Amino acid sequence: MTYENIIVAKHGKVALITLNRPKALNALSPDLTRELGEALDVLEIDPTVAAVVLTGSEKAFAAGADIKVMKDWSYMDVYSANFITATWERIAKFRKPTIAAVAGYALGGGCELAMMCDFIIAADNAKFGQPEITIGTIPGAGGTQRLTRLIGKSKAMEMVLTGRMMDAVEAERAGLVTRIVPADQLISDALKTAEKIASMSMPIAMMAKDAVNRAYEVSLSEGIHFERRLFHSTFATEDQKEGMNAFSEKRPPVFKDK
Ligand code: CAA
Repeated sequence: MTYENIIVAKHGKVALITLNRPKALNALSPDLTRELGEALDVLEIDPTVAAVVLTGSEKAFAAGADIKVMKDWSYMDVYSANFITATWERIAKFRKPTIAAVAGYALGGGCELAMMCDFIIAADNAKFGQPEITIGTIPGAGGTQRLTRLIGKSKAMEMVLTGRMMDAVEAERAGLVTRIVPADQLISDALKTAEKIASMSMPIAMMAKDAVNRAYEVSLSEGIHFERRLFHSTFATEDQKEGMNAFSEKRPPVFKDK
């Protein structure tokens, strides 16, 4: 499939999606988010894809929802269309592992999109923020919820109320990103990490992701119950047999995604 606002490339079992509206700093227009959703629909059922890396440009991962498109929308426009629409949230529902590789600005919807991925690797020039308050609105794609869960109330509240940006060092210290890499190594590092994940059994990686995500939805005892059931079900897979036999036989496992 060809797209106008994103580029999708395959690197072995990893799909690299690059947001590609450089003139608008990858502002998330309705067309861009629709294309992103369509691409994810295709990748989710592609058995040759085991992980996804989502990135932008060196200057901007994404500078937020497209302000110029939405500035004249009425209450009924956004309410009727249920903006932010489900296409935005598509990556949060994607079942295979996802990594956001963030360089430059990840602001507003851009920060929210990065947080919808399973984890964030930041370039040393990355800047995160929820500046919606500076343009007379509030985060609308999960920013007040996901940022608060990731970095705690105090810091999230300050960022949402002042609109200030956080640099990569502060973001790592706060737990928003898993690590910082030099900007020129961001894509290679993210792809290497995704390839490592893609070398595991795909269904087992999907179960691991599902279990970790459950921690954000349910109580501890329910989460542990969910984890236990998934753990048990890994024993119904050929890949669990292969992984444990390979360990016993002192050889690398050959997973078949079965
Ligand atoms: N929407 C539309 N266009 C945008 C944009 C956005 N969110 N962010 C940047 N652009 C455009 C600019 O208008 C500009 O276009 P023109 O050349 O046609 O004027 C181009 O991208 C380059 O931007 P700047 O000239 O502003 O670049 P800069 O380096 O001086 O500043 C910036 C960079 C600090 C990121 C600044 O562009 C900025 O503040 N952008 C807006 C950030 C923002 O408020 N994001 C939140 C949006 S609301 C939201 O996301 C709601 C939600 O929760 C879903």
